[in-house]
Amino acid sequence: MIKLENVHKSYGSTKVLNGITLEIKSGEFISLMGSSGSGKSTLLNLVGAMDLPDSGSITVRGENIVTYNDEQLTLYRRNKIGFIFQFFNLFQNLPVFENIRIPLLLQSIREDGRVREYINLVGLAGREKDYPYQLSGGQQQRVAIARALIHNPDIILADEPTGSLDSSNSRSIMELITRLAEEMNKTVILVTHESAVARYAHRLERISDGVLLQ
Ligand SMILES: Nc1ncnc2c1ncn2[C@@H]1O[C@H](COP(=O)(O)OP(=O)(O)O)[C@@H](O)[C@H]1O
Ligand SMILES: [Mg+2]
Repeated sequence: MIKLENVHKSYGSTKVLNGITLEIKSGEFISLMGSSGSGKSTLLNLVGAMDLPDSGSITVRGENIVTYNDEQLTLYRRNKIGFIFQFFNLFQNLPVFENIRIPLLLQSIREDGRVREYINLVGLAGREKDYPYQLSGGQQQRVAIARALIHNPDIILADEPTGSLDSSNSRSIMELITRLAEEMNKTVILVTHESAVARYAHRLERISDGVLLQ
């Protein structure tokens, strides 16, 4: 499903990824653990085509996304990827309903029923008109999860999704991500520096200074 081969990435003279080779099967949920600065977000951004590697290939369903042109990259990001961030990245000036609807609007899909369905799925029925500031951190992350799933992407990329939540909210967010990924057969890459979070995955990989540990 996703295959990285000998991926290198530097920012200026800082080598961030030093030959990453990793294969993730369809429907698999992997955690990538490593300390701050080890290259986790960089790797996730490359799989999500938010950035390009200096060398190496990233093959998704048999296509090397590194060779994509801008238009193909945009379609890939829009259609294939759902991203969940540590700080939720919601639009503060849009209510819950509109935040969740964004990926559909980017594909010119107008299905309000589907938006309501995903609001229910993440346990936020009745909160559709609220603005992010009216919600707790855990509730805001639920909005972000609905937004990451609503366009039915194959791949979910979660970058420290519990990093700004307390332990009880972390648990319920991890249970939600795990349950929905299972039910919807998503391929998930989650990065974290916390072993209690990493444990929810089928498989654990460790990264240190831009290389995967054996
Ligand atoms: N856009 C960027 N420009 C310059 N340096 C960057 C950029 N993104 C990341 N880095 C550097 O790359 C290293 C790894 O960063 P990152 O992938 O964010 O690590 P992690 O997510 O594991 O904490 C850090 O030293 C960071 O400062
Ligand atoms: Mg990071």
